[in-house]
Amino acid sequence: MDHIFSGVQPTGNLHIGNYLGAIRKFVDIQNRGNVAKAYYCVVDLHAITVWQDPKKLKKDILETTASFIAAGVDPKNNIIFNQSSVSAHAELAWILNCICRIGWLNRMTQFKEKAGKNKERASVGLYAYPILMASDILSYKSTLVPVGDDQKQHLELVRDVANKFNFDYGVNFFPEVKPLIIGDATRVMSLKNGNKKMSKSDESQYSRINLTDDKDDIRNKIKKAKTDSHNIMGLEALDDNGDFKAEVAIKRPEAANLINIFCELEKKSKKEILEIYAGKNFSNLKENLTDSLITNIVPIGNEMKRMIKDSLY
Ligand code: TYM
Repeated sequence: MDHIFSGVQPTGNLHIGNYLGAIRKFVDIQNRGNVAKAYYCVVDLHAITVWQDPKKLKKDILETTASFIAAGVDPKNNIIFNQSSVSAHAELAWILNCICRIGWLNRMTQFKEKAGKNKERASVGLYAYPILMASDILSYKSTLVPVGDDQKQHLELVRDVANKFNFDYGVNFFPEVKPLIIGDATRVMSLKNGNKKMSKSDESQYSRINLTDDKDDIRNKIKKAKTDSHNIMGLEALDDNGDFKAEVAIKRPEAANLINIFCELEKKSKKEILEIYAGKNFSNLKENLTDSLITNIVPIGNEMKRMIKDSLY
């Protein structure tokens, strides 16, 4: 039976990418029921790899915790906790720092993106970020990690670090770690630019649907979401696995993104969705996507707001 571990940074603006790519998977795993233990961690030590306002960080830790519970992760049957409250994460990270090779970290694309042009001024913590992830997961000897697609490379590094530790010391101490990256929303893209990942740090609120958005926010954002001048594609856009063909995803990233989000929300295949919308313009799809988002997301946001107000809870 698998031990599950996953983490979410408390950096505010939790959005449907975080929910559909990761948090909802935690709930699916719980409902499937065949796991030994599941740990869901609010990774505040990861958050401080870039500057955080201390007061806001406290608030965001609570908000992230609330998002897990509001989405349906049962705190009685899963371990929900804050990373910095367990010092083992930082301790094991140091040991793994001594295992991991600098060359491996140099290949991490997320560091390059986050550090930007001024790499010299990035924190050492931002550079060593994936080693702390390895420590998170390996502290509990977890084997399965539900995440969005953007964490794939980090999880490959976690495996490399665990293997090298086992090899160097001639032991079989750390287990093999597998990512769980499934569904149509493993990489939800910005509503303004289908080539950019939906992100908590995007300056434009119109780039993402936040979990705390109300009906009107959702309606406005989907109305303004970028599309293209063609009608919705037909079944010829899909490959044998039912995914968008590469050329379609490249030529029509915004259309593919809205359809992916809709499929994941409705738990329907692309084939089922395209059979309904092929040849139509985007307004009908946008209307139904808005309704689906309102049905799925607004209750979670309301529950988050309720919990955050109830400080005793
Ligand atoms: P974070 O806080 O950036 O994101 C939390 C989770 O949301 C997923 N995600 C997305 N999924 C689909 N589309 C998107 N646009 C999108 N944006 C984010 C992320 O893949 C992630 O699953 N490094 C991690 C946190 C972490 C962690 C760990 C994860 C720390 N330790 C150990 C797993 C195991 C991160 O920055 O997530």
